[in-house]
Amino acid sequence: MKNNTKVLLQPNQSSNLPKHFQLIEKTYQSNIDSDYTEKIADLGKNFDYSSNSNRYWVNPELSTFYGTPLYEEASSSQKLALNHLYWVGQYNHTANSEANTMLYNQITEGVFAHFDDYKTLCQELDFETSQERYHIKTFQKIGYKTKIALLGKSSLGNPLSQKSNKLGQLKDPVWIKFLNSSLDTAREATFRFLTRLMLGSKTNSYSQYLQERDSGSIPTTTGGLAELTGSPTAFKFFTLNWGSSPFLASQYYAVRMIANMSLKTYEHQYFKHFKKLKKAEESIPTPTAVSYYHLLDESFHTTMSQVIAQELYRDFPQPTAYEKFVANLTIYLAQKGVLGGLSGGLPAVFRDDVSFFLPFYRLLQSPLFEMSSKEALQWMEKCLCREHEGFHVNLKYHQKLLGEFRRFFDPLDYLWPVNREMQIMASGASIDRAVKNNIKSWKRFSRQVAG
Ligand SMILES: [Fe+2]
Ligand SMILES: [Fe+2]
Repeated sequence: MKNNTKVLLQPNQSSNLPKHFQLIEKTYQSNIDSDYTEKIADLGKNFDYSSNSNRYWVNPELSTFYGTPLYEEASSSQKLALNHLYWVGQYNHTANSEANTMLYNQITEGVFAHFDDYKTLCQELDFETSQERYHIKTFQKIGYKTKIALLGKSSLGNPLSQKSNKLGQLKDPVWIKFLNSSLDTAREATFRFLTRLMLGSKTNSYSQYLQERDSGSIPTTTGGLAELTGSPTAFKFFTLNWGSSPFLASQYYAVRMIANMSLKTYEHQYFKHFKKLKKAEESIPTPTAVSYYHLLDESFHTTMSQVIAQELYRDFPQPTAYEKFVANLTIYLAQKGVLGGLSGGLPAVFRDDVSFFLPFYRLLQSPLFEMSSKEALQWMEKCLCREHEGFHVNLKYHQKLLGEFRRFFDPLDYLWPVNREMQIMASGASIDRAVKNNIKSWKRFSRQVAG
């Protein structure tokens, strides 16, 4: 059964539509007209690392280990490789985060589809999902070829990953531990029951996407931003909530905005690099072009996240205390997982380096640096456990993004101060703290490697 929002629009009232309806119409039309997915797919298909290997893909500042003692000693070809591997790492993360997006676009679209007024919104979300499919494929193709060329086939395996995951475990409050425990079928049924109980009549808009899958287990996602935010079990809980209440379906886009804005922090640098090369009539490396066109596609997604998270949620009745709690919980966990620290090895990444220890260790032992295990550990200590220029460069990106997030979250009246003021992210702006955390993690990592 179709519902009406409290805006109660009539078909012949289009000139009186609230501003955000017009913005959604305009964004959808512009996105369809502009759409760079074919261009991006072609670039991916024709990518060949060797013809892109001798140029920087973005300004050197956005290179793995930029500003560290290792970077100072690296040869010019190693520096180029570090610039390329930065793209690979960031777009691997982006591909995974966009896979998260594809699922939650469909889940929340299934909620909005209950309302007659949101036809265009649903079409736009559907279109975005199809765009992400192209984006992900291209990122993976370029990443795969570059990794093979620079690090060899062995770089694709991950034998130490389980050890490394243990390093990433945080001390969490009990309620977060509950969400992170695994979920069997009986407990999934309990999850469903509890969500219905807590959301009451709000579940009248239960996602059509989920309805069609009710006989199976609750859809969830891994990797990317989701993995940093919570376990697959936690995401089953969020799936039910984002997929049941119209307020929470809208609020999901505040979380999606964290992904949009984090991506833009580095992608905009590739965008600027593309323009600079174009102006100078120089040839443009394929990955730089992919980032450029991706930013153009993503600019519409970002507008949508913003308008849904800041405006559209007000079309629905005020959230209950429970809805406010779930909304704040998701932002809190995303803030803590995605933005809670400061990397010393990866510029424009705002989490502690612990989750990168294993890839760094493998990178240093790869054909690119040919270090022994002992040398790799020593260089990791030099690059991650002492203050250096790289931390200061990263702090500059951190401060800029923090200001942008605060402006974005400020108008969301349901947020706890810890979220509205981005207090967790703000507390991560400490080189001292980042270095101390890395020292602890490095000691544990060294013992695990040795043991
Ligand atoms: Fe994308
Ligand atoms: Fe997107």
